[in-house]
Amino acid sequence: MSINQEIKKRRTFAIISHPDAGKTTLTEKFLLFGGAIQTAGAVKSNKIKKSATSDFMEIERQRGISVATSVMNFEYNDTLITLLDTPGHKDFAEDTYRTLTAVDSVILVIDCQKGVEEQTYKLMEVCRMRDTPVIIFVNKMDREGKYPFDLLDELEEKLKIKVRPLSWPISVGQTFKGVYNLFDQSLYAFTPGSEKKPMGVAITDLADPAVDKLAGQYAKQIREDVELIEGVYEPFDTKDYLSGKLAPVFFGSAINNFGVKEMLDTFIKISPVPGSRPTDKREIHPDDKNFTGFIFKIHANLDPRHRDRIAFLRVCSGKFERGKFYHHVRLDKDMRFNNPATFLGQSKNIIDEAYPGDVIGLYDSGNFKIGDTLSQGENLNFQGIPSFSPEIFKELVNTDPMKSKQLEKGITQLTDEGVAQLFIQFGGNRKIVGTVGELQFEVIQYRLEHEYGSSCRFNMISVYKACWITCDDKNKLDEFVRFRQHQVATDKDNNLVYLADSQWMLDQMIKNYPEVQFHFTSEFKRKALMES
Ligand code: G4P
Repeated sequence: MSINQEIKKRRTFAIISHPDAGKTTLTEKFLLFGGAIQTAGAVKSNKIKKSATSDFMEIERQRGISVATSVMNFEYNDTLITLLDTPGHKDFAEDTYRTLTAVDSVILVIDCQKGVEEQTYKLMEVCRMRDTPVIIFVNKMDREGKYPFDLLDELEEKLKIKVRPLSWPISVGQTFKGVYNLFDQSLYAFTPGSEKKPMGVAITDLADPAVDKLAGQYAKQIREDVELIEGVYEPFDTKDYLSGKLAPVFFGSAINNFGVKEMLDTFIKISPVPGSRPTDKREIHPDDKNFTGFIFKIHANLDPRHRDRIAFLRVCSGKFERGKFYHHVRLDKDMRFNNPATFLGQSKNIIDEAYPGDVIGLYDSGNFKIGDTLSQGENLNFQGIPSFSPEIFKELVNTDPMKSKQLEKGITQLTDEGVAQLFIQFGGNRKIVGTVGELQFEVIQYRLEHEYGSSCRFNMISVYKACWITCDDKNKLDEFVRFRQHQVATDKDNNLVYLADSQWMLDQMIKNYPEVQFHFTSEFKRKALMES
Protein backbone atom coordinates (compact mmCIF):
# COMPACT_ATOMS: atom_id res chain seq x y z
CA MET A 1 0.00 0.00 0.00
CA SER A 2 1.35 3.47 -0.86
CA ILE A 3 2.03 5.98 1.89
CA ASN A 4 -0.88 8.09 0.64
CA GLN A 5 -3.25 5.16 0.97
CA GLU A 6 -1.93 4.52 4.48
CA ILE A 7 -2.53 8.17 5.40
CA LYS A 8 -6.07 8.24 3.96
CA LYS A 9 -7.03 5.21 6.06
CA ARG A 10 -6.13 6.90 9.33
CA ARG A 11 -8.01 9.12 11.78
CA THR A 12 -6.42 10.30 15.03
CA PHE A 13 -8.61 12.05 17.55
CA ALA A 14 -9.44 12.56 21.22
CA ILE A 15 -12.69 12.57 23.14
CA ILE A 16 -12.78 15.46 25.58
CA SER A 17 -15.27 16.59 28.19
CA HIS A 18 -15.84 18.09 31.56
CA PRO A 19 -15.65 15.17 34.04
CA ASP A 20 -18.83 13.08 34.22
CA ALA A 21 -20.28 14.18 30.88
CA GLY A 22 -19.74 10.65 29.54
CA LYS A 23 -16.30 10.53 27.88
CA THR A 24 -15.40 7.08 29.25
CA THR A 25 -18.79 5.65 28.33
CA LEU A 26 -18.57 6.99 24.78
CA THR A 27 -14.98 5.74 24.41
CA GLU A 28 -16.12 2.30 25.44
CA LYS A 29 -18.94 2.27 22.89
CA PHE A 30 -16.49 3.23 20.15
CA LEU A 31 -14.14 0.43 21.16
CA LEU A 32 -17.04 -2.02 21.14
CA PHE A 33 -17.97 -0.96 17.60
CA GLY A 34 -14.36 -1.33 16.56
CA GLY A 35 -14.11 -4.80 18.12
CA ALA A 36 -11.17 -3.64 20.28
CA ILE A 37 -13.03 -4.80 23.38
CA GLN A 38 -15.76 -7.38 23.67
CA THR A 39 -17.69 -6.39 26.77
CA ALA A 40 -18.98 -3.21 28.27
CA GLY A 41 -17.12 -2.19 31.42
CA ALA A 42 -13.72 -3.11 29.98
CA VAL A 43 -12.52 0.47 29.90
CA LYS A 44 -11.84 1.76 33.36
CA SER A 45 -12.48 5.37 33.92
CA ASN A 46 -9.15 7.10 34.41
CA LYS A 47 -10.69 9.81 36.46
CA ILE A 48 -9.31 10.24 39.91
CA LYS A 49 -12.25 10.20 42.22
CA LYS A 50 -12.71 13.41 44.14
CA SER A 51 -12.48 11.61 47.46
CA ALA A 52 -9.08 10.20 46.63
CA THR A 53 -7.18 13.35 45.76
CA SER A 54 -4.47 12.79 48.34
CA ASP A 55 -4.31 9.06 48.25
CA PHE A 56 -1.04 8.13 46.58
CA MET A 57 -1.84 4.53 46.05
CA GLU A 58 -4.93 5.68 44.23
CA ILE A 59 -2.89 8.07 42.10
CA GLU A 60 -0.43 5.30 41.27
CA ARG A 61 -3.24 2.89 40.48
CA GLN A 62 -4.89 5.45 38.27
CA ARG A 63 -1.65 6.15 36.49
CA GLY A 64 -1.38 2.45 35.76
CA ILE A 65 -4.86 2.47 34.27
CA SER A 66 -4.22 5.54 32.24
CA VAL A 67 -1.14 4.14 30.49
CA ALA A 68 -3.24 1.20 29.41
CA THR A 69 -5.78 3.49 27.82
CA SER A 70 -3.47 6.29 26.71
CA VAL A 71 -3.67 5.25 23.09
CA MET A 72 -6.43 3.08 21.77
CA ASN A 73 -6.38 1.68 18.26
CA PHE A 74 -9.24 0.08 16.44
CA GLU A 75 -10.45 -0.52 12.94
CA TYR A 76 -13.89 0.53 11.84
CA ASN A 77 -15.23 0.33 8.29
CA ASP A 78 -11.72 0.01 6.85
CA THR A 79 -10.52 3.03 8.79
CA LEU A 80 -7.67 2.77 11.28
CA ILE A 81 -8.68 4.86 14.24
CA THR A 82 -6.35 6.09 16.96
CA LEU A 83 -8.18 7.45 19.96
CA LEU A 84 -6.09 9.31 22.50
CA ASP A 85 -7.28 9.38 26.06
CA THR A 86 -7.19 12.58 28.07
CA PRO A 87 -7.29 12.72 31.86
CA GLY A 88 -10.59 13.96 33.18
CA HIS A 89 -9.20 15.36 36.43
CA LYS A 90 -8.76 19.10 36.33
CA ASP A 91 -5.32 18.93 37.95
CA PHE A 92 -4.05 17.08 34.91
CA ALA A 93 -5.42 19.60 32.42
CA GLU A 94 -1.96 20.39 31.08
CA ASP A 95 -1.59 16.73 30.08
CA THR A 96 -4.86 16.98 28.19
CA TYR A 97 -3.77 20.17 26.41
CA ARG A 98 -0.60 18.48 25.25
CA THR A 99 -2.44 15.40 24.05
CA LEU A 100 -4.59 17.67 21.92
CA THR A 101 -1.45 18.71 20.00
CA ALA A 102 -1.14 15.14 18.74
CA VAL A 103 -4.64 14.73 17.29
CA ASP A 104 -6.23 15.88 14.06
CA SER A 105 -9.71 16.39 15.49
CA VAL A 106 -11.77 16.00 18.66
CA ILE A 107 -15.19 14.91 19.81
CA LEU A 108 -16.44 17.08 22.64
CA VAL A 109 -19.03 15.51 24.94
CA ILE A 110 -21.59 17.74 26.65
CA ASP A 111 -24.05 16.69 29.33
CA CYS A 112 -27.49 17.84 28.14
CA GLN A 113 -28.48 18.76 31.70
CA LYS A 114 -25.39 20.76 32.49
CA GLY A 115 -24.54 22.31 29.14
CA VAL A 116 -21.18 24.08 28.88
CA GLU A 117 -19.09 23.53 32.05
CA GLU A 118 -15.81 24.97 33.31
CA GLN A 119 -13.47 22.43 31.69
CA THR A 120 -15.43 22.58 28.44
CA TYR A 121 -14.46 26.24 27.98
CA LYS A 122 -10.78 25.61 28.53
CA LEU A 123 -10.65 22.60 26.26
CA MET A 124 -12.39 24.53 23.53
CA GLU A 125 -9.88 27.38 23.92
CA VAL A 126 -7.08 24.93 23.26
CA CYS A 127 -8.86 23.51 20.20
CA ARG A 128 -9.39 27.02 18.88
CA MET A 129 -5.69 27.88 19.20
CA ARG A 130 -4.90 25.25 16.62
CA ASP A 131 -8.18 25.38 14.64
CA THR A 132 -8.79 21.75 15.53
CA PRO A 133 -12.03 20.46 13.99
CA VAL A 134 -14.61 19.68 16.69
CA ILE A 135 -17.70 17.46 16.64
CA ILE A 136 -20.04 17.96 19.60
CA PHE A 137 -21.96 15.05 21.12
CA VAL A 138 -24.79 16.12 23.41
CA ASN A 139 -25.09 13.18 25.78
CA LYS A 140 -27.62 11.85 28.29
CA MET A 141 -30.66 12.66 26.16
CA ASP A 142 -32.48 9.96 28.16
CA ARG A 143 -32.53 12.48 31.03
CA GLU A 144 -34.52 15.64 31.29
CA GLY A 145 -32.15 18.25 29.97
CA LYS A 146 -32.05 21.71 28.52
CA TYR A 147 -34.24 22.52 25.53
CA PRO A 148 -32.14 21.54 22.46
CA PHE A 149 -32.42 24.93 20.73
CA ASP A 150 -31.33 26.66 23.97
CA LEU A 151 -28.41 24.26 24.18
CA LEU A 152 -27.30 25.12 20.66
CA ASP A 153 -27.43 28.84 21.52
CA GLU A 154 -25.45 28.19 24.68
CA LEU A 155 -22.82 26.21 22.76
CA GLU A 156 -22.44 28.97 20.20
CA GLU A 157 -22.31 31.74 22.71
CA LYS A 158 -20.09 30.18 25.35
CA LEU A 159 -17.79 28.15 23.13
CA LYS A 160 -17.57 30.89 20.51
CA ILE A 161 -18.01 28.54 17.58
CA LYS A 162 -20.72 28.25 14.97
CA VAL A 163 -22.73 25.08 15.40
CA ARG A 164 -24.85 23.03 13.00
CA PRO A 165 -27.02 20.14 14.23
CA LEU A 166 -26.59 16.99 12.15
CA SER A 167 -29.02 15.03 14.24
CA TRP A 168 -32.06 16.14 16.18
CA PRO A 169 -33.75 14.58 19.20
CA ILE A 170 -37.38 13.54 19.12
CA SER A 171 -38.44 14.72 22.58
CA VAL A 172 -36.07 14.40 25.57
CA GLY A 173 -35.82 12.64 28.93
CA GLN A 174 -38.45 10.06 29.79
CA THR A 175 -40.27 10.60 26.51
CA PHE A 176 -37.09 10.55 24.36
CA LYS A 177 -38.12 8.67 21.21
CA GLY A 178 -35.01 8.78 19.07
CA VAL A 179 -33.20 11.05 16.67
CA TYR A 180 -33.67 12.27 13.16
CA ASN A 181 -30.32 12.26 11.38
CA LEU A 182 -30.21 15.31 9.17
CA PHE A 183 -26.95 14.22 7.56
CA ASP A 184 -28.17 10.94 6.09
CA GLN A 185 -31.92 11.70 6.45
CA SER A 186 -32.82 8.70 8.57
CA LEU A 187 -34.90 8.16 11.66
CA TYR A 188 -33.50 6.16 14.56
CA ALA A 189 -35.81 4.80 17.26
CA PHE A 190 -34.61 4.74 20.86
CA THR A 191 -35.07 1.67 23.05
CA PRO A 192 -33.83 2.33 26.60
CA GLY A 193 -31.24 -0.13 27.87
CA SER A 194 -30.78 -1.78 24.48
CA GLU A 195 -27.19 -2.56 23.52
CA LYS A 196 -28.25 -3.38 19.96
CA LYS A 197 -27.24 -0.98 17.22
CA PRO A 198 -30.42 0.90 16.33
CA MET A 199 -31.45 0.55 12.70
CA GLY A 200 -32.12 3.71 10.79
CA VAL A 201 -35.19 4.21 8.59
CA ALA A 202 -34.36 6.31 5.55
CA ILE A 203 -36.77 9.22 5.13
CA THR A 204 -36.73 11.31 1.99
CA ASP A 205 -39.63 13.47 3.09
CA LEU A 206 -40.59 14.28 6.66
CA ALA A 207 -44.24 13.91 5.67
CA ASP A 208 -43.54 10.16 5.53
CA PRO A 209 -45.97 8.26 7.84
CA ALA A 210 -42.93 6.46 9.34
CA VAL A 211 -42.31 9.72 11.24
CA ASP A 212 -45.79 9.55 12.83
CA LYS A 213 -45.29 5.89 13.65
CA LEU A 214 -42.01 6.50 15.48
CA ALA A 215 -42.54 9.93 16.96
CA GLY A 216 -46.26 9.59 17.82
CA GLN A 217 -47.45 12.79 19.47
CA TYR A 218 -44.02 14.39 18.84
CA ALA A 219 -44.25 14.03 15.04
CA LYS A 220 -45.56 17.58 14.57
CA GLN A 221 -42.81 18.94 16.78
CA ILE A 222 -39.97 17.18 14.95
CA ARG A 223 -41.31 18.39 11.60
CA GLU A 224 -41.43 21.96 12.87
CA ASP A 225 -38.00 21.69 14.49
CA VAL A 226 -36.36 20.37 11.34
CA GLU A 227 -38.02 23.08 9.27
CA LEU A 228 -36.68 25.66 11.71
CA ILE A 229 -33.18 24.16 11.63
CA GLU A 230 -33.07 24.13 7.85
CA GLY A 231 -34.32 27.72 7.84
CA VAL A 232 -32.02 29.11 10.53
CA TYR A 233 -28.80 27.17 10.03
CA GLU A 234 -26.81 27.22 6.82
CA PRO A 235 -26.36 23.84 5.13
CA PHE A 236 -23.53 21.86 6.68
CA ASP A 237 -20.24 22.72 5.01
CA THR A 238 -17.43 20.22 5.59
CA LYS A 239 -14.83 22.90 4.74
CA ASP A 240 -15.98 25.07 7.67
CA TYR A 241 -15.80 22.08 9.99
CA LEU A 242 -12.32 21.15 8.79
CA SER A 243 -11.06 24.68 9.33
CA GLY A 244 -12.38 24.67 12.91
CA LYS A 245 -15.05 27.32 12.26
CA LEU A 246 -18.11 25.13 12.57
CA ALA A 247 -18.94 22.30 14.94
CA PRO A 248 -21.51 19.71 13.82
CA VAL A 249 -23.71 18.61 16.73
CA PHE A 250 -25.14 15.14 17.43
CA PHE A 251 -27.57 14.15 20.14
CA GLY A 252 -27.68 10.77 21.86
CA SER A 253 -27.15 8.68 24.94
CA ALA A 254 -23.78 7.01 25.27
CA ILE A 255 -24.83 4.65 28.05
CA ASN A 256 -27.70 3.40 25.91
CA ASN A 257 -25.45 3.21 22.86
CA PHE A 258 -27.79 5.55 21.12
CA GLY A 259 -26.73 8.08 18.51
CA VAL A 260 -23.17 6.80 18.83
CA LYS A 261 -22.95 4.73 15.67
CA GLU A 262 -24.46 7.48 13.51
CA MET A 263 -21.92 9.91 14.88
CA LEU A 264 -19.06 7.47 14.32
CA ASP A 265 -20.23 6.81 10.75
CA THR A 266 -20.38 10.53 10.06
CA PHE A 267 -17.05 11.08 11.79
CA ILE A 268 -15.40 8.57 9.41
CA LYS A 269 -16.84 10.45 6.44
CA ILE A 270 -16.05 14.03 7.42
CA SER A 271 -13.14 14.03 9.89
CA PRO A 272 -9.69 15.05 8.73
CA VAL A 273 -6.98 12.60 7.71
CA PRO A 274 -3.54 13.22 9.27
CA GLY A 275 -2.54 16.70 8.15
CA SER A 276 0.46 18.98 7.72
CA ARG A 277 2.22 20.41 10.76
CA PRO A 278 4.39 23.47 11.29
CA THR A 279 8.02 23.27 12.36
CA ASP A 280 10.55 26.04 12.93
CA LYS A 281 11.91 25.36 9.42
CA ARG A 282 8.98 24.52 7.21
CA GLU A 283 5.61 22.86 7.02
CA ILE A 284 5.86 19.08 7.23
CA HIS A 285 3.42 17.19 4.98
CA PRO A 286 2.39 13.69 5.97
CA ASP A 287 3.38 12.30 2.57
CA ASP A 288 6.93 13.71 2.79
CA LYS A 289 9.32 10.87 2.07
CA ASN A 290 11.29 11.15 5.29
CA PHE A 291 10.01 10.19 8.70
CA THR A 292 9.37 12.89 11.32
CA GLY A 293 7.48 12.82 14.62
CA PHE A 294 7.30 14.46 18.03
CA ILE A 295 6.92 13.45 21.66
CA PHE A 296 3.77 14.78 23.31
CA LYS A 297 3.48 12.66 26.43
CA ILE A 298 5.84 10.81 28.72
CA HIS A 299 4.53 8.20 31.04
CA ALA A 300 6.92 7.26 33.81
CA ASN A 301 7.24 4.80 36.56
CA LEU A 302 5.81 1.74 34.90
CA ASP A 303 8.26 -0.21 36.98
CA PRO A 304 9.69 1.91 39.81
CA ARG A 305 12.76 -0.34 40.13
CA HIS A 306 13.87 0.42 36.59
CA ARG A 307 12.63 3.96 36.30
CA ASP A 308 11.01 2.93 33.05
CA ARG A 309 9.44 5.58 30.94
CA ILE A 310 7.41 5.44 27.79
CA ALA A 311 7.53 8.41 25.47
CA PHE A 312 4.55 8.71 23.17
CA LEU A 313 5.41 9.81 19.66
CA ARG A 314 3.03 11.07 17.02
CA VAL A 315 4.24 10.19 13.54
CA CYS A 316 3.91 13.27 11.31
CA SER A 317 5.47 12.21 8.01
CA GLY A 318 7.04 9.29 6.20
CA LYS A 319 7.32 5.81 7.58
CA PHE A 320 8.72 4.88 10.99
CA GLU A 321 10.53 1.55 11.06
CA ARG A 322 11.49 -0.54 14.05
CA GLY A 323 15.24 -0.83 14.63
CA LYS A 324 16.18 1.99 12.24
CA PHE A 325 18.30 4.93 13.41
CA TYR A 326 16.51 8.28 13.78
CA HIS A 327 17.82 11.69 14.74
CA HIS A 328 16.96 13.16 18.13
CA VAL A 329 17.16 16.81 17.14
CA ARG A 330 17.54 18.44 20.57
CA LEU A 331 20.29 16.06 21.67
CA ASP A 332 21.83 15.93 18.20
CA LYS A 333 22.07 12.19 18.59
CA ASP A 334 20.99 9.20 16.52
CA MET A 335 18.88 6.63 18.30
CA ARG A 336 17.06 3.46 17.39
CA PHE A 337 14.07 1.78 18.95
CA ASN A 338 13.83 -1.97 19.05
CA ASN A 339 10.50 -2.27 20.81
CA PRO A 340 8.13 0.46 19.63
CA ALA A 341 4.71 -0.44 20.98
CA THR A 342 1.02 0.21 20.94
CA PHE A 343 -1.09 -0.57 23.99
CA LEU A 344 -4.59 -1.58 24.78
CA GLY A 345 -5.61 -2.78 28.19
CA GLN A 346 -3.06 -5.25 29.47
CA SER A 347 -1.84 -6.15 26.02
CA LYS A 348 1.08 -4.50 24.36
CA ASN A 349 1.92 -4.95 20.69
CA ILE A 350 5.37 -4.40 19.27
CA ILE A 351 4.96 -2.76 15.88
CA ASP A 352 7.35 -2.94 12.93
CA GLU A 353 6.27 0.21 11.17
CA ALA A 354 4.08 3.23 11.71
CA TYR A 355 2.59 5.89 9.45
CA PRO A 356 1.47 9.52 9.81
CA GLY A 357 -1.30 9.77 12.38
CA ASP A 358 -0.06 6.75 14.31
CA VAL A 359 0.96 7.12 17.93
CA ILE A 360 3.63 4.78 19.24
CA GLY A 361 5.19 4.24 22.64
CA LEU A 362 9.00 4.33 22.76
CA TYR A 363 10.85 2.96 25.78
CA ASP A 364 12.99 5.74 27.18
CA SER A 365 15.70 5.89 29.77
CA GLY A 366 15.59 9.65 30.16
CA ASN A 367 16.46 10.94 26.69
CA PHE A 368 13.16 12.57 25.91
CA LYS A 369 11.29 15.59 27.05
CA ILE A 370 7.93 16.80 25.86
CA GLY A 371 8.09 18.50 22.50
CA ASP A 372 11.20 16.64 21.27
CA THR A 373 11.40 15.97 17.56
CA LEU A 374 12.72 12.83 15.84
CA SER A 375 13.66 13.02 12.18
CA GLN A 376 15.65 11.25 9.51
CA GLY A 377 18.53 13.65 9.96
CA GLU A 378 16.96 17.04 9.31
CA ASN A 379 17.31 19.64 12.06
CA LEU A 380 13.79 20.87 12.66
CA ASN A 381 11.49 21.25 15.62
CA PHE A 382 7.75 20.80 15.65
CA GLN A 383 5.76 23.77 16.84
CA GLY A 384 2.44 23.83 18.56
CA ILE A 385 3.29 22.10 21.83
CA PRO A 386 2.94 25.06 24.16
CA SER A 387 3.16 25.35 27.91
CA PHE A 388 0.49 27.47 29.53
CA SER A 389 0.90 29.58 32.59
CA PRO A 390 0.56 27.33 35.63
CA GLU A 391 -2.07 28.26 38.18
CA ILE A 392 -0.33 27.38 41.43
CA PHE A 393 3.27 28.27 42.22
CA LYS A 394 5.42 27.08 45.11
CA GLU A 395 9.08 27.29 45.99
CA LEU A 396 10.88 23.96 46.05
CA VAL A 397 13.11 23.68 49.12
CA ASN A 398 15.67 20.93 49.51
CA THR A 399 15.38 19.41 52.98
CA ASP A 400 18.33 17.02 52.67
CA PRO A 401 21.48 18.84 51.52
CA MET A 402 23.30 15.50 51.14
CA LYS A 403 20.86 14.62 48.36
CA SER A 404 21.06 17.82 46.29
CA LYS A 405 22.18 15.99 43.14
CA GLN A 406 19.30 13.54 43.37
CA LEU A 407 16.84 16.36 43.85
CA GLU A 408 18.26 18.25 40.89
CA LYS A 409 18.05 15.19 38.66
CA GLY A 410 14.60 14.23 39.90
CA ILE A 411 13.00 17.61 39.41
CA THR A 412 14.58 17.96 35.95
CA GLN A 413 13.25 14.59 34.85
CA LEU A 414 9.81 15.13 36.33
CA THR A 415 9.46 18.47 34.63
CA ASP A 416 10.75 16.95 31.36
CA GLU A 417 7.83 14.57 31.66
CA GLY A 418 5.53 17.53 31.97
CA VAL A 419 4.36 16.82 35.54
CA ALA A 420 4.97 20.50 36.34
CA GLN A 421 6.91 23.51 35.08
CA LEU A 422 10.14 24.60 36.64
CA PHE A 423 11.29 28.22 36.81
CA ILE A 424 14.64 29.35 38.18
CA GLN A 425 14.66 32.81 39.67
CA PHE A 426 16.78 35.16 37.62
CA GLY A 427 20.34 35.51 38.85
CA GLY A 428 19.85 32.96 41.61
CA ASN A 429 19.08 29.36 42.15
CA ARG A 430 15.67 29.54 43.73
CA LYS A 431 13.46 26.90 42.16
CA ILE A 432 9.81 27.71 41.57
CA VAL A 433 7.49 24.91 40.59
CA GLY A 434 4.26 25.73 38.79
CA THR A 435 1.34 23.36 38.28
CA VAL A 436 -2.32 23.47 37.34
CA GLY A 437 -3.44 21.61 40.45
CA GLU A 438 -2.48 20.88 44.05
CA LEU A 439 -2.31 17.19 43.29
CA GLN A 440 0.91 17.56 41.32
CA PHE A 441 2.82 18.88 44.33
CA GLU A 442 1.95 15.73 46.21
CA VAL A 443 2.89 13.60 43.23
CA ILE A 444 6.24 15.42 42.87
CA GLN A 445 7.11 15.15 46.55
CA TYR A 446 6.19 11.48 46.59
CA ARG A 447 8.09 10.64 43.44
CA LEU A 448 11.20 12.65 44.40
CA GLU A 449 11.33 10.67 47.59
CA HIS A 450 10.50 7.22 46.21
CA GLU A 451 12.21 7.31 42.84
CA TYR A 452 15.14 9.63 43.47
CA GLY A 453 15.76 9.25 47.19
CA SER A 454 15.65 12.99 47.79
CA SER A 455 13.46 14.99 50.10
CA CYS A 456 11.87 18.38 49.72
CA ARG A 457 9.27 20.78 51.00
CA PHE A 458 7.12 23.30 49.15
CA ASN A 459 6.82 26.84 50.44
CA MET A 460 3.88 29.02 49.50
CA ILE A 461 4.82 32.04 47.41
CA SER A 462 2.77 34.84 46.06
CA VAL A 463 2.75 34.34 42.30
CA TYR A 464 -0.41 34.67 40.28
CA LYS A 465 0.65 34.09 36.71
CA ALA A 466 3.72 33.34 34.58
CA CYS A 467 4.12 35.31 31.35
CA TRP A 468 6.86 34.70 28.86
CA ILE A 469 8.47 38.03 27.94
CA THR A 470 10.15 39.18 24.75
CA CYS A 471 11.19 42.55 23.36
CA ASP A 472 12.65 43.65 20.04
CA ASP A 473 14.85 46.14 21.87
CA LYS A 474 17.41 44.25 23.94
CA ASN A 475 18.21 47.28 26.10
CA LYS A 476 14.58 47.70 27.10
CA LEU A 477 14.36 44.02 28.02
CA ASP A 478 17.55 44.26 30.08
CA GLU A 479 16.12 47.30 31.82
CA PHE A 480 12.91 45.45 32.64
CA VAL A 481 14.83 42.48 33.98
CA ARG A 482 17.08 44.75 36.09
CA PHE A 483 14.17 46.57 37.69
CA ARG A 484 12.02 43.50 38.19
CA GLN A 485 14.74 40.99 38.93
CA HIS A 486 13.00 39.45 41.92
CA GLN A 487 9.98 38.70 39.72
CA VAL A 488 11.83 37.40 36.69
CA ALA A 489 12.79 33.79 36.13
CA THR A 490 13.90 31.51 33.34
CA ASP A 491 12.02 28.43 32.21
CA LYS A 492 13.63 25.12 31.29
CA ASP A 493 14.56 26.35 27.84
CA ASN A 494 16.10 29.52 29.24
CA ASN A 495 13.25 31.75 28.09
CA LEU A 496 12.59 34.78 30.28
CA VAL A 497 9.43 34.64 32.33
CA TYR A 498 7.74 37.36 34.38
CA LEU A 499 6.07 36.05 37.52
CA ALA A 500 3.27 38.47 38.28
CA ASP A 501 1.91 38.48 41.80
CA SER A 502 -1.51 39.81 40.79
CA GLN A 503 -3.57 40.73 37.76
CA TRP A 504 -3.27 44.35 38.81
CA MET A 505 0.53 44.13 38.83
CA LEU A 506 0.51 42.42 35.45
CA ASP A 507 -1.71 45.15 34.00
CA GLN A 508 0.66 47.77 35.42
CA MET A 509 3.66 46.11 33.80
CA ILE A 510 1.91 45.81 30.46
CA LYS A 511 1.04 49.52 30.70
CA ASN A 512 4.43 50.72 31.95
CA TYR A 513 6.54 48.66 29.56
CA PRO A 514 4.75 48.95 26.21
CA GLU A 515 7.81 47.68 24.31
CA VAL A 516 7.86 44.41 26.25
CA GLN A 517 5.54 41.69 25.02
CA PHE A 518 3.84 39.49 27.60
CA HIS A 519 2.85 36.07 26.27
CA PHE A 520 0.42 33.73 27.96
CA THR A 521 1.80 30.55 26.42
CA SER A 522 5.40 29.51 25.91
CA GLU A 523 4.73 29.36 22.22
CA PHE A 524 4.75 33.03 21.49
CA LYS A 525 6.21 32.55 18.03
CA ARG A 526 2.80 31.45 16.79
CA LYS A 527 1.24 34.47 18.43
CA ALA A 528 -1.60 32.27 19.61
CA LEU A 529 -2.09 33.89 22.95
CA MET A 530 -4.39 32.33 25.41
CA GLU A 531 -5.72 33.91 28.51
CA SER A 532 -7.42 31.66 30.95
P1 G4P B 1 -16.48 10.90 32.15
O1 G4P B 1 -15.56 9.84 31.61
O2 G4P B 1 -16.75 12.01 31.19
O3 G4P B 1 -16.09 11.42 33.48
O4 G4P B 1 -17.93 10.24 32.35
P2 G4P B 1 -18.38 8.72 32.43
O5 G4P B 1 -18.40 8.08 31.10
O6 G4P B 1 -17.63 8.04 33.53
O7 G4P B 1 -19.90 8.96 32.84
C1 G4P B 1 -20.28 9.64 34.02
C2 G4P B 1 -21.60 9.10 34.53
O8 G4P B 1 -22.63 9.36 33.57
C3 G4P B 1 -21.58 7.59 34.74
O9 G4P B 1 -22.41 7.30 35.84
C4 G4P B 1 -22.23 7.08 33.46
O10 G4P B 1 -22.82 5.81 33.64
C5 G4P B 1 -23.27 8.15 33.21
N1 G4P B 1 -23.68 8.24 31.80
C6 G4P B 1 -22.90 8.23 30.69
N2 G4P B 1 -23.66 8.34 29.59
C7 G4P B 1 -24.95 8.45 29.99
C8 G4P B 1 -26.20 8.58 29.31
O11 G4P B 1 -26.28 8.62 28.09
N3 G4P B 1 -27.32 8.66 30.10
C9 G4P B 1 -27.27 8.62 31.45
N4 G4P B 1 -28.41 8.70 32.11
N5 G4P B 1 -26.11 8.49 32.12
C10 G4P B 1 -24.96 8.39 31.41
P3 G4P B 1 -21.85 7.07 37.28
O12 G4P B 1 -22.99 6.74 38.14
O13 G4P B 1 -20.96 8.22 37.69
O14 G4P B 1 -20.86 5.90 37.10
P4 G4P B 1 -21.19 4.36 36.88
O15 G4P B 1 -21.36 3.84 38.25
O16 G4P B 1 -22.43 4.27 36.03
O17 G4P B 1 -19.97 3.87 36.19
